[in-house]
Amino acid sequence: MLAGAVKRIAANETLPKLDIGSGASRRDEDYITVDAFHPDADVRAEMWKLPFRDNGVEAIWCCHALEHAPRSKVIETLTEFFRVLRPGGRAYVLVPNFDYVARYWLIGGADKQRDLAWAEAMVYGLQENEGGFHKSAFNAELLRGDLQGVGFEDVTISLKWTHNQETLQGVGKKPNG
Ligand SMILES: C[S@@+](CC[C@H](N)C(=O)[O-])C[C@H]1O[C@@H](n2cnc3c(N)ncnc32)[C@H](O)[C@@H]1O
Repeated sequence: MLAGAVKRIAANETLPKLDIGSGASRRDEDYITVDAFHPDADVRAEMWKLPFRDNGVEAIWCCHALEHAPRSKVIETLTEFFRVLRPGGRAYVLVPNFDYVARYWLIGGADKQRDLAWAEAMVYGLQENEGGFHKSAFNAELLRGDLQGVGFEDVTISLKWTHNQETLQGVGKKPNG
């Protein structure tokens, strides 16, 4: 995070934006990175226990990270996102599309080529450390239901190609005051 962004937050000119489960990446320099395992994260925290106040965050970006939460923590995590977001703020939640992953395991990609080691990694995660295991699975209906279930409105689900796989991008808005 750039010093300029820190100053604006400290001066209460802007609310922080969070990149949750950031790993080594950062959405952009305006974002605070949050990760339970990565040593370079600005904030070390579990995604379901964020050290931020209610209604105090401008936006949340959580890319290829929610699937690392056990199913029993998914709603808790999204509820936490909802809690910290300001009214009108948006959460962007990107997860592997398990419908694609299952098809890939069985028949491969559009060219019908399949790489079972990569299919296994898409199912179970890269497992490079404790935080690298996948513990929950989503398709468009599940992601939409989970976002709506915790109170997000104007929920949209779209398909992206990222992390070498078909990815669901769910966007939800916390209702205005
Ligand atoms: C596949 S990486 C995604 C990194 C990055 N967001 C990206 O798009 O490439 C998943 C990240 O989630 C983090 N993670 C796993 N479990 C977590 C948890 N309970 N709370 C916060 N971060 C977690 C891991 O440490 C890892 O950095």
